[in-house]
Amino acid sequence: MSSIPKTEKNGIAVVDIDDDVDAAAASVAPSATNTTTSSEVAPPAPQVQLQHQNLDSRSFWKAGDYIVGSSSKPASFQGHLDHARVHPKFLHTNATSHKWAFGAIAELVDNAVDEIQNGATYVKVDRVDIMKDNSPALSFLDDGGGMSPESLRKCMSLGYSSKKSKTTIGQYGNGFKTSTMRLGADAIVFSRATCSGRATQSVGLLSYTFLRRTGQDDVIVPMIDFDISGHWAEPIIYGSQDDWSAHLKTILEWSPFTSKEELMLQFDDIGLHGTKVVIYNLWLNDEGIYELSFDDDAEDIRLRDEANQGDVKKLRKKAVQLQSHISYRMRYSLRVYLSMLYLRKFSNFQIILRGKPVDQFNIADELKYSQIVSYRPQFAMGSNEATVLTTIGFIKEAPCLNVSGFNVYHKNRLIKPFWKVNPDGSSKGMGVVGVLEANFIEPAHDKQDFENSLLFIRLETRLKQMTNDYWKGHCHLVGYQPLNFKSQNAQKERHVRQSSGHSMNSQSELLADQQEICIGAEDHLSLEQAVGGLAANGMHCSSHEQQGTSAGTPGTVSVDKICEENIVLFMRCEEYRKKDIELKQTVEELEEELKEVQMKCTHLSSLLEAKRKHKNVKGQ
Ligand SMILES: Nc1ncnc2c1ncn2[C@@H]1O[C@H](COP(=O)(O)OP(=O)(O)O)[C@@H](O)[C@H]1O
Ligand SMILES: [Mg+2]
Repeated sequence: MSSIPKTEKNGIAVVDIDDDVDAAAASVAPSATNTTTSSEVAPPAPQVQLQHQNLDSRSFWKAGDYIVGSSSKPASFQGHLDHARVHPKFLHTNATSHKWAFGAIAELVDNAVDEIQNGATYVKVDRVDIMKDNSPALSFLDDGGGMSPESLRKCMSLGYSSKKSKTTIGQYGNGFKTSTMRLGADAIVFSRATCSGRATQSVGLLSYTFLRRTGQDDVIVPMIDFDISGHWAEPIIYGSQDDWSAHLKTILEWSPFTSKEELMLQFDDIGLHGTKVVIYNLWLNDEGIYELSFDDDAEDIRLRDEANQGDVKKLRKKAVQLQSHISYRMRYSLRVYLSMLYLRKFSNFQIILRGKPVDQFNIADELKYSQIVSYRPQFAMGSNEATVLTTIGFIKEAPCLNVSGFNVYHKNRLIKPFWKVNPDGSSKGMGVVGVLEANFIEPAHDKQDFENSLLFIRLETRLKQMTNDYWKGHCHLVGYQPLNFKSQNAQKERHVRQSSGHSMNSQSELLADQQEICIGAEDHLSLEQAVGGLAANGMHCSSHEQQGTSAGTPGTVSVDKICEENIVLFMRCEEYRKKDIELKQTVEELEEELKEVQMKCTHLSSLLEAKRKHKNVKGQ
């Protein structure tokens, strides 16, 4: 699905979506009145008709199940509020890209992190209480550059992104809308910014409840702005005072705040610049309880359905251990997830969750026997090559805990946590974890996976190979038994027996053999330690799994070599494709030339013929 900025009126982005996106979107009928200019007759304040139709469900996954029928919205809405021309149902459909609610929270944290370049030093994620109905809401507050009235309008329309920089995380221009709508039915934004010397504060309301209850078939986003350059907040009127009042009235009616004063109080903790997003009418789970739990831990926000997988008392020790690992806890604890969300430690920025800063954590820092492996992704011909460094090692709990996979970041942001590249059940790679930043592939829209591409597939293959190589060289160090250990040992025993009397020789051969088992083993490890470790532990790697080894390992088919060959072939293929295009172009040009020459030739022959006739006539 895509939405593209189509027109701009009075600084307000009006967007259209492709008409084949879904049935709901197809029913969008933009009318000329939707983009009325501010000079038109002042509208009366919209009379919001409360339909006696329930919001079908307070559960996110069911909230989009309604039939798009004829609009019963009050006519006075048409054309008088600035809005993006997209059906409300599309808002919901769009938000379903976030299967996991924490993925949506991360998008809003990303927006604050992207503001570091504009001076942001914190983002505070917290629960706030809505007095109106005594319900919990989720708030995000940052001290970044904030949004001017125009930026806020763009932010609340679909598909707009102001981010072109290589370092920012946002890029699709969809994060704000999809994430707010995924977390709750309604969101209100307060933002303060200074743009071209003018200080402003703006309020915008993206309310699914309002759109549904008033039967809108467009996404109407009521907004009001104030100029705060002087001593007081001066309303910025684009059209008429009535227009402005209509927006305010709608905001007060459908937001948790009942008076303008109460609304203005929301700016108190924003400071000179920054943004506050409050998401309310949070979604409930299938059991009718809030998806997000604020009560289990006063310093955390938890995902109710991801936590508590089974009664801890009844779980086996191993399962309890597994559930206490960060790879598991990050599924339901926001504090844990946020601690890993960004690869590099911030120098002057903090994520403050429910009043307490989140400690950043990189699992690479606590891996055992870690190594850094470099990988050069092969791009198409002529494009840049970058080296990707992967830190790989054993989790500190190995071999007791079988957690493995790669934490893959993109532009500093975690996309795929603990990505298992080896098939489930494979004994290779147990306890092996890696961390890398893959900026050469594109994340999917929910930023929880990568787009499928040749580069992505190659990365997976490379990581598989990396895991296997690492495993082969290091598994014995933590107590796993390396591949072919039994057969190699038997060989060695035979060898030692055969060469009795040549003890010096046999010992050095034994060492050489051992080194073959321990490719890449750390220097400080002695033979005794290695063998001792193996003997002490009953763990085995399945000996039937024959691995590919890294280039340079004698006697084996090198996967690296096959990859290289594959890449050479791919590049040759690209060359041929290019040549093919060039040749086709040459053929076309030659054909054109031939046509011209043929035409000239025809022309000359007719001239010649005419001359000949003329001569004949003269001669007679
Ligand atoms: N907290 C914020 N502070 C300042 N600007 C913001 C903030 N959140 C969103 N924006 C603005 O809104 C735009 C749209 O945001 P979003 O929908 O998340 O898309 P993206 O981050 O991909 O650009 C951003 O490009 C940015 O200009
Ligand atoms: Mg974003």
